[in-house]
Amino acid sequence: MALASIKLDGGTALVTGTASGIGKEVAFAFAEAGAHAIVLVDLHAPDIMLEKCRQYAAHPDLRLLPIAANITVEKDVENMVQSAISAFGRIDYCVHSAGIGCISRAPTERLDVEAFQHTMTTNASGTMLVLRAVSNLMAKQEPRTYTSPRSNATRSLGRGAIVVISSIPGIIASPDMMPYTVSKHAVIAIAKTAAVDNFRHNIRVNIVDGLSWIKGLRAMSALQRAAVPEEVADAIVFLCSPAATFINGSALVIDAGMTLTALRSNL
Ligand SMILES: NC(=O)c1ccc[n+]([C@@H]2O[C@H](COP(=O)([O-])OP(=O)(O)OC[C@H]3O[C@@H](n4cnc5c(N)ncnc54)[C@H](O)[C@@H]3O)[C@@H](O)[C@H]2O)c1
Repeated sequence: MALASIKLDGGTALVTGTASGIGKEVAFAFAEAGAHAIVLVDLHAPDIMLEKCRQYAAHPDLRLLPIAANITVEKDVENMVQSAISAFGRIDYCVHSAGIGCISRAPTERLDVEAFQHTMTTNASGTMLVLRAVSNLMAKQEPRTYTSPRSNATRSLGRGAIVVISSIPGIIASPDMMPYTVSKHAVIAIAKTAAVDNFRHNIRVNIVDGLSWIKGLRAMSALQRAAVPEEVADAIVFLCSPAATFINGSALVIDAGMTLTALRSNL
């Protein structure tokens, strides 16, 4: 059953990390919500995605562009944005999902410095490079508008909407996970700064914090499980949609209430 409640008025989406996990589901969710074009970015161009995107497409003429890019390499990120512009003329939604998880678990006194730097380069610097290139591009495009069928009122969709993915370790500390925890705190800081910097361009930047694969955290969620990628993807597309035009700089926590309270009488 399609989630008909999330609707896009066409538009071009650029999604990083589409070969797997959340990024892949975000591409499907954009197709289902009615995007006109989707740019699919990963280390290796994720061709296998194309057929499935078409299968879910609500737009009768969905256009797809797979791009191979390493989001930690400035030139790759610039080329990625230029290729999207050459193909589709603009980017209305950018979802940055490419990233790495916890590649090293160790307490502070035995921290693996190389793992720390690699995680920061991929998750933090990668986010900075993508937001830099996409903000620069979006700032130059004309804003779009949306007319509500209910009220017949027209409001601006702005010049674009960006969503980045942090994680629950982006808002709390977890033992033995300094590289990932620091990188995800940094992702939130980068996105919030970009949201403020982009006020003047009318570009919205939001964050989702998904409940991660960490076993101990999962057991603490009210539903006793992690979110499935689709549950995160649908929330992301909502944040890009006309339904979210007044949501900016927010960090949406998708954790079934796990971080809501420290009291767990029924768990
Ligand atoms: N899986 C979870 O439970 C969870 C929870 C919360 C947040 N997150 C975050 O969501 C994001 C996506 O996670 P996921 O579970 O979908 O991971 P995943 O490993 O399934 O997918 C990540 C994708 O990013 C790509 N990628 C990695 N480094 C790249 C680079 N330098 N350049 C281009 N592409 C690159 C990978 O090839 C992969 O296809 C990550 O930032 C992760 O931290 C995941």
